[in-house]
Amino acid sequence: MHKVIHLDTARTSYILDVLPTGHLANLYYGKRLRTMDDYEPLRQKNVVPYGTMVNVSQEYRNIGLDDQCLEYSGLGKGDYREPAIELIFADGSRTTDFRFSSMRSYRGRPSEASLPSALGGETDLETTEVTLQDTERGLSLVLSYCVYAKHDVITRFATLRNNGEEPVRVGRLMSAQLDLFGGSWNFVTFDGCWAYERERNDRPVRPGIYVNDSKTGNSSNRHNPFIMLTADDCTEDSGECYASNLIYSGNHAEIVEATYQGKVRLLTGINPSGFEWFLKEGQTFSTPEAVLSYSAAGLNELSRNMHRFVQDFIVRGEWQHRERPVLINNWEATDFDFDTRKLLALAKEAANLGIELFVLDDGWFGARDDDTSSLGDWTVNEKKLPGGIAGLVPKINALGLTFGIWVEPEMINENSELYRAHPDWAVATPGRAPAYGRNQFVLDLTMPEVRAHLVEAMTDVFSQGKIEYVKWDMNRNISDAYSGGLSPERQGEFHHRYLLGLYEILAELVRRFPKILFESCASGGNRFDLGMLCYMPQAWTSDDTDAYARLTIQGGSSYGYPQSVMGAHVSASPNMQTLRASTIETRFNVAAFGLLGYELDLTILSPFDKKAIREQVAFYKKHRKLLQFGRFIRVPDRLDKAKIIWAVVSDDGSEAIAGLFQGSARIGLGQDLLTVPGLEPGASFTVNGRPQFINVKAFGNLVNRVLPVKIRGDGVIHTVLSSHYMFRMATEEYRANGDLLSKYGIKLIPQFSGTGYNDKIRIFSDYGSRLYVIDAAG
Ligand code: GLA
Repeated sequence: MHKVIHLDTARTSYILDVLPTGHLANLYYGKRLRTMDDYEPLRQKNVVPYGTMVNVSQEYRNIGLDDQCLEYSGLGKGDYREPAIELIFADGSRTTDFRFSSMRSYRGRPSEASLPSALGGETDLETTEVTLQDTERGLSLVLSYCVYAKHDVITRFATLRNNGEEPVRVGRLMSAQLDLFGGSWNFVTFDGCWAYERERNDRPVRPGIYVNDSKTGNSSNRHNPFIMLTADDCTEDSGECYASNLIYSGNHAEIVEATYQGKVRLLTGINPSGFEWFLKEGQTFSTPEAVLSYSAAGLNELSRNMHRFVQDFIVRGEWQHRERPVLINNWEATDFDFDTRKLLALAKEAANLGIELFVLDDGWFGARDDDTSSLGDWTVNEKKLPGGIAGLVPKINALGLTFGIWVEPEMINENSELYRAHPDWAVATPGRAPAYGRNQFVLDLTMPEVRAHLVEAMTDVFSQGKIEYVKWDMNRNISDAYSGGLSPERQGEFHHRYLLGLYEILAELVRRFPKILFESCASGGNRFDLGMLCYMPQAWTSDDTDAYARLTIQGGSSYGYPQSVMGAHVSASPNMQTLRASTIETRFNVAAFGLLGYELDLTILSPFDKKAIREQVAFYKKHRKLLQFGRFIRVPDRLDKAKIIWAVVSDDGSEAIAGLFQGSARIGLGQDLLTVPGLEPGASFTVNGRPQFINVKAFGNLVNRVLPVKIRGDGVIHTVLSSHYMFRMATEEYRANGDLLSKYGIKLIPQFSGTGYNDKIRIFSDYGSRLYVIDAAG
């Protein structure tokens, strides 16, 4: 019984088939194919049984499941690869056998969902549901495919229903299985640690099993759920590649298994490790939604598919497509040590510089003067802030700034009123002393009373005054997973139920406060995922605010996530995390490719820095739409791989901003080529270097080589000049056609290399950078 299901997006096709045995097979996922009268050419020819093959039925002796491209595999019937589903029946048996039963398609998406899911209505997508059945055990499994044709994205999830007479324990239920046939692939993951998140790592897929996963209770800074499979010859602008992400914020796994028969399996979903779900008769369990995309034209196109999908169907609400404010955050400026006077001084300076939103970070509540106490006690510390938040907000507003606040609702300190009242609300395993993280415990969000408490506590916090932004933090991984509210056979549900609890709280708070701009944070990027982005339109990318490190962090994140969700701040130099010194201009140039904020003590800056910042903020506001929502492109530098070029290009290719960044300066590599793909080929453009300023202190004793007047290097005059004198970087102005800019690039004026200086030399030095504004020539 062959039955072909052919799904198309604008540029891709996804084709399913039913094997003669009734098992659902994957015929194809890749570049768009026409619908065919006969799909035989795509079918594997199963002619004779061979070797150690196990065949599911004697009727089809030539078909062994182990060597097919299947759509959703179980255990026990001869497919020995990593399964998508693992069940334990009441009798202890584990064999499953799901076969095709029916399918239906309709415009739009299913309406009910227990988990955050992508948006979209009848005009955006078509859903195809394929129902499989394990008739011997009374189970049905619905595989849903939501086809977003215009975005070249297909999302998938699975729903298991127990129609049998006994409960079933679910050990594994993945969101998607994708079996590819042939090809030579690389498994690309985005890994890291605290303050160094989502660095791209490529590894060739050889026969074997590869796992990318998280067991921390969140999607983690170690291994993000966004992954790619890229062909060996794939580059930023050519070649085949697949992307997969998960709308989920908890323990996940992406498993790749390659066999000697040239099959490559990708699984993504809830991490089976530590997971078990007790599914009673009549109950259903739905997986998180996986987001898949394919491109035949390289990684930038794949990223664009994911970016647009995130912007149009993940982020939602008031702020979905709205430009985000430039903010000042007091964390790296004051730490816990602040009072009203300090905050207002900071806010006043911020307002002077054109900044729009003031964010009060950790330390405003309970008795929190360091990180050992008060999480859970969400009442204002009147010693630091007499008159409370209610008194502070109008003062901030009077300066012309909106107000935002930091909270970490999911956590509790032992030293808090809340813990003294409800010690049983903290996650702990009976009979074991719980482990600490940043001196705190995690609240048990599987408990309804904890959730109800948090919704009300946060409602109070957000109602103290005109609060227009909230930074929702989560600063430790979960340990000692166990809930006093769950029966022993349900303890394997803990992590998933924690997420369900969190999502319930977030849904309610977003419903109550639809105008607040929420930013998700978890010690930086420890929960940087599509699940959180369904509630919070943006996320704090990393606790590492160092500009040079951010090139790797934001660059890695950009494969799967648009810059419109990435918080990026200018902080002090030397940097608080790396102690690396970098110029105020480079710190801005990197942050400009994200949601700009400042996170440093503005009150102690030199006039030079303040003037530079005022210009930066004005520049950012002027180009904000393009910087935040333009098409983000990683431009391969054809001259020097150590340099990084990023660009944001408007959808119609009529304008762009590019950034050129370097690490350590190298003599001999001072020539740069600026390429900006995506521009309208036939149009003519002007390219202007952003006016940038150099602090003359940077020259030391060489200052006389660049200044017309003679002064003593490092002398008093030099010091005075360095804090006041705005030494301009060379003016750069070019004209070029779109096709030249897109393909070959402009040769820029050279970098300083020690043998003379004039106004046609670009001073770049270590960690140097410049932004270029590309406009249609008038
Ligand atoms: C986390 C966040 C920081 C800051 C601190 C405050 O580390 O990532 O941005 O909010 O907590 O304690």
